[in-house]
Amino acid sequence: MSGKLTVIVGPMYSGKTTELLSLIEIYALGKKNYLVFKPSIDIRYSEEHIVSHTGLKAPAIKVTSSDELRKTFAEHAGQLDAIFIDEIHFFDENIVQIIEEIIYSGVNVFCVGLDMSYKHRPFKTTVQIMGIADEVIKKKAVCHICGEYKAVVSYRKVDDTESEIDVGGMEKYIAVCRDCYNKLTGRF
Ligand code: ADP
Ligand code: TMP
Ligand code: MG
Ligand code: ZN
Repeated sequence: MSGKLTVIVGPMYSGKTTELLSLIEIYALGKKNYLVFKPSIDIRYSEEHIVSHTGLKAPAIKVTSSDELRKTFAEHAGQLDAIFIDEIHFFDENIVQIIEEIIYSGVNVFCVGLDMSYKHRPFKTTVQIMGIADEVIKKKAVCHICGEYKAVVSYRKVDDTESEIDVGGMEKYIAVCRDCYNKLTGRF
């Protein structure tokens, strides 16, 4: 039987990693076999764990590419019930096909990532994975400007790079609602 693909998306601080950690705990309590992956670029709180903004964490295997994830998965072929991947937006697009292969090998996949960059543009890898998912959970945060629970996009407070890839936390990014994003950027 094929596995199931669940994708959790939303802006920063919307509880994506916390939800992934809850799902990992369910598998751990059930004594299931699983692997947790993170992209090696994510050195924000730890290199060896996935970590929520509140400090909850779980050990993770860091990989530099989707191919490295595929190879590590292959070493455990036939033994796994699920894999968990944090920060999917940092992966190259080949991860999409690799995830398809993993699901069809009978393993459940849980992915977490930003759906949009601070430029209000979709992150390609995340959006492609949403397209092939069985279930997409879209989360919100509390808007850092107006305080309403309707933040759907991340806003970059500092203007030191044009890159859409830049690891960081509260010193660089806040979560905002559409109206506050528009007031801050004047883009729409
Ligand atoms: P994500 O992975 O989506 O960035 P985390 O699961 O790591 O989110 O962190 C979620 C936690 O961040 C919340 O439980 C809350 O304690 C904290 N937090 C900080 N700022 C906000 C905010 N603006 N809205 C919601 N939660 C926030
Ligand atoms: P988080 O969703 O767990 O808070 O982590 C998001 C990570 O992605 C964090 O390291 C900051 C980074 N990031 C980008 O690289 N580009 C962006 O446009 C945004 C909003 C965040
Ligand atoms: Mg996170
Ligand atoms: Zn707002």
